[in-house]
Amino acid sequence: MANKIYMTSGKGGSGVTTCALYLGRALAETGERTLVIDGDRLAAGGIYAAGLAGKQTYTLADCEKGACRARQAVVSVAGQPNFFVAGTLGLKDENAAAEAVEELDGIFDYIICDKICAGACDGAFIVTEPYAAAIKSADVCADTLAGEGFEEPQLIVNKLNGGQIIEGEVMTAQEIAALLHVKLAAVIPEDLMLPTGKIKNFTRKAFRTAAERIAGKGDGLCNVLKNYFGPAGYVRRKLRARI
Ligand SMILES: Nc1ncnc2c1ncn2[C@@H]1O[C@H](COP(=O)(O)OP(=O)(O)OP(=O)(O)O)[C@@H](O)[C@H]1O
Ligand SMILES: [Mg+2]
Repeated sequence: MANKIYMTSGKGGSGVTTCALYLGRALAETGERTLVIDGDRLAAGGIYAAGLAGKQTYTLADCEKGACRARQAVVSVAGQPNFFVAGTLGLKDENAAAEAVEELDGIFDYIICDKICAGACDGAFIVTEPYAAAIKSADVCADTLAGEGFEEPQLIVNKLNGGQIIEGEVMTAQEIAALLHVKLAAVIPEDLMLPTGKIKNFTRKAFRTAAERIAGKGDGLCNVLKNYFGPAGYVRRKLRARI
């Protein structure tokens, strides 16, 4: 049986798709056979972000129509033997995706569902940015998840900038988790390369640390304050505000 994680957010654009894909990849790198279900039924955002546009023959929408089996909609990612993605572009009924998750359950260690198939999952992760509006909506999201039967959702604080913490502009991930009364699963730094499709080594390591913590192979959290002390850190803090 796979660990099935429903990944969601209160506020849009918090980084759910980014975290689902990079965390999925990192879990795969630690040896866990991992599938990410891209819940973007309108634009296949996850499939594009994973660089898989044009590389899939079927999606779970074809599975819904009876044109293929769920496993035929699973796309393997080149160079990542344990990492797989399935799209839902054009899917009409979310229940069809949930049935596909059930069908795929036995052949993966982790299935991460990007804002889809909550009912098929046994755990939930809330992704939040460290800003007030996102934290407030993460709080509402936690309540909604509790209503859906997720007793202990976990938190991923994404886009956290160490310089902003030092300047007192945002809270630490631990403070955000304490405020929301949810367990902190991962801290992912702000990485302005991510929107361009690239990733800094520091961020990649943060996802790796998160994957190890989630898979019970470690208990670390990314220290986003690193590199923001001393004269170089001061310059880095001041530069961020100006670029
Ligand atoms: N750690 C990060 N640092 C900087 N930018 C990030 C980070 N994580 C995600 N982003 C950027 O934020 C934007 C939104 O990310 P993403 O699409 O993953 O969010 P989402 O929660 O899936 O959005 P939606 O609600 O539309 O599904 C993207 O441009 C992405 O590259
Ligand atoms: Mg998304």
